Amino acid sequence: MTFLELHPLKAEQLSAVVELDQLCFGGLWTRSGYERELDSSSSQLLVLEAAIDDQESGFSRQSSEVLTQNLARADFQTAPTSQNSLLGLGCFWSILEEAHITILAVHPDYQRQGLGQLLLYALLRDAKRRQLEWATLEVKPSNQAALSLYQKFGFSEAGRRRRYYKDTGEDALILWRRGLQTLEFEETLTQCYRRVEHYLSLWGWQLPDSWEAQIISSKPFKESPGLTSPRE
Ligand SMILES: CC(C)(COP(=O)(O)OP(=O)(O)OC[C@H]1O[C@@H](n2cnc3c(N)ncnc32)[C@H](O)[C@@H]1OP(=O)(O)O)[C@@H](O)C(=O)NCCC(=O)NCCS
Repeated sequence: MTFLELHPLKAEQLSAVVELDQLCFGGLWTRSGYERELDSSSSQLLVLEAAIDDQESGFSRQSSEVLTQNLARADFQTAPTSQNSLLGLGCFWSILEEAHITILAVHPDYQRQGLGQLLLYALLRDAKRRQLEWATLEVKPSNQAALSLYQKFGFSEAGRRRRYYKDTGEDALILWRRGLQTLEFEETLTQCYRRVEHYLSLWGWQLPDSWEAQIISSKPFKESPGLTSPRE
């Protein structure tokens, strides 16, 4: 078993996050873009790490030797952040009653292990906790992996933004997930989380019991006045 850690981005993780962004998106956001997320009270940017054993940690983790073997098996390319290794990241901006999901990515060596679902679950759980009413995002119509993931959480197509992606000139599909405060959404979240737990145990990942408390940002959270365009 390898312990996972999921928590808001910390300043010392900026280099690793930029590296992961490069690997997953070819450089969607710059370092200063991520720095702005650190400062923004309307942003919740979560990072997912594989925890390397440290003697002082409060919970029992696997030995660093085993984790090193696991990471070596996948030829881990992303820079470790001090003791840990970055597996994924996800972000939403709170805009009035909306959670605008701006980024979601899992390290290519660790995809299809339930980590993308875990990140999306955590973002939506937090959006619900913040009393937001709906979630939205843009996605390339060709991105079948992402589309299939979002559908599992009940996102559906609400429109298109023409020639939104500068790299390919593709349109963006606009996906929406309404009713974050409804019982139906809570049931969807519960089902999705069961699936996450199943995948994580299959792949030897373990979350600490307190993980939901750890994603709560210490930043005072305020909604931003309006949506800005995606950053380069
Ligand atoms: C999209 C992404 C975050 C999914 O992460 P992941 O960790 O592989 O996702 P999961 O293992 O939790 O898979 C969840 C579901 O997504 C879908 N999915 C993931 N990879 C897929 C693939 N290669 N082909 C088809 N469906 C896929 C499946 O429905 C999958 O569920 P299943 O395994 O039960 O069939 C990941 O592929 C990624 O980082 N892609 C590059 C960045 C990106 O495109 N982000 C989205 C921007 S909108």
